[in-house]
Parts: sequence; structure tokens; C-alpha cells
Amino acid sequence: MTKTIRPLLAGNWKMNGTRASLDQIKAIADGVKAPLSEKIDTLLCPPATLLYVATALCDDSPLAIGAQDCHQQVSGAYTGDISAEMIADCFGTHVIVGHSERRRNHAESDMLVRAKAQAAHDAGLIAIICIGETAYERNSGQTLDVLKRELIGSVPDGATAATTVIAYEPVWAIGTGVVPTSEDVEEAHAFMRAELIERFGKEGANMRILYGGSVSGANARSLLDIPHVNGVLVGGQSLKAVDFLAIYAAFERQFA
Ligand code: PGA
Repeated sequence: MTKTIRPLLAGNWKMNGTRASLDQIKAIADGVKAPLSEKIDTLLCPPATLLYVATALCDDSPLAIGAQDCHQQVSGAYTGDISAEMIADCFGTHVIVGHSERRRNHAESDMLVRAKAQAAHDAGLIAIICIGETAYERNSGQTLDVLKRELIGSVPDGATAATTVIAYEPVWAIGTGVVPTSEDVEEAHAFMRAELIERFGKEGANMRILYGGSVSGANARSLLDIPHVNGVLVGGQSLKAVDFLAIYAAFERQFA
């Protein structure tokens, strides 16, 4: 299937990485080369402590740098939080919001995730909005209902294809090495596409929908072949340049 939407390969380092890891960011930045880099977008989201120095390291690379979360307010008495403006100030271009680890560990609701995505848009950042069902929800047949609810609740009204990326991450597939079947991914992505078109029209038709959860160099090709999979969000396999670049190479097939 020919895909017309420009794909995105995004890495999420979570709470991993110190200054000693900067050589991995540099190696990734150096490895993201033309001609493939002219056809896909690449992004790495290190911890906030490395944001500013990482953007400087990637100055002459197509690799974009983003953050893993932001506060919904621009500034104020919110100890420990960082705002979307601060991310933009460090030359970050994207921010992940509503990751299941934030939803679970920090009790983030759809309403809060939507406010964070709106704050990202207001600061000129691209919001990567994560949604996905838990194992319990899947086993009780609620997957599509959960996706519908989270899409409605977490995506702000003014979202466009340029400002918003959806990341479908089944919670039970994150960090487990277990990936849903291609049929299951296809069903979920087709469903999300239809929902996005219904609400956002042409913008929804062009919005990128990533798959995330145990993506590796070994399974990336088959995931990228699935209709309406417009890239991947990678956790564990984004930490080492060699692993991340193996996933990058898998995108070649989409353009072969
Ligand atoms: P994983 O994480 O690739 O380690 O499963 C994905 C994510 O949480 O974004």
C-alpha cells in the first residue's frame, strides 16, 4: 500500500540518560542521513535535563529533539514541572503528552492531557498524544471504545495534521516484548483514522498515527507495512544508536 503521509520515527528515552549518553544522541544524529531523511521525520525525546544540550548537538542534523511531558500552564508555582514554552525555548520542537506511564503514575486524565496538548500547540510545539488500552480493557473487548474515548477526550479541537501526532500504544505491549498481531494493529489504526476524519475532516485524514510498544529493528518493517501506521514511537530500542538506526533503516521499505 502506498502511503502519502510523511512518516515519523520517534524515540522516547523515558527516565534514562545522563551526559554520558550524549554520544548516543550524536551517533543517532549522524546516522539520520539523506536520502532517507528527506522522506521521513525523526525525533528523539531525551530527559529534560539533556534537552538544551541535545538540540545544540543536533543543530546540523535532521534529527529533531523533543520532550516527554509538559505542564498545561505557561509558568507559575508548579514545582518540578516544565512548560511547553520552556521546551520551545530549548529549541525542542515536539512534546509527548498522555503517555500511559504519566496517565498511570501521575493519574493524568484525558482532560489534563488535552490541556497539555493545547499548551504545546500554543507554544508552537507538535504534540504527540498517546492513547491505548490496558490488558484488562483489551481482554474485556473494550479496545475500540477506549480509543474512541481517549481520542475525543485527549485531542484538542483545533488539532491539525501539522500540529498533532497520535501514538497508539497498547499499555500491555509497552516494554514487554509482546506486540499485537498485524490484524489487531490494522483494526485499531483504521478505527482511529475513521474517528479522526469524522472529527477533523481533511486534517484528520492527514494526521500521523504512530504505533508504539516493543518496537524493534526486527518487527519495524512489518509494522510499517500496516495501513494507517505512519511511523513508530520507540522506547527501549531508542536508547542505543545502533538499535534506533536499525529501526530507521526499516523505513526504507516504505519508499522502495
Ligand atoms: P517500548 O516503549 O518501546 O520500550 O515498549 C514504548 C513507549 O513507551 O513509548
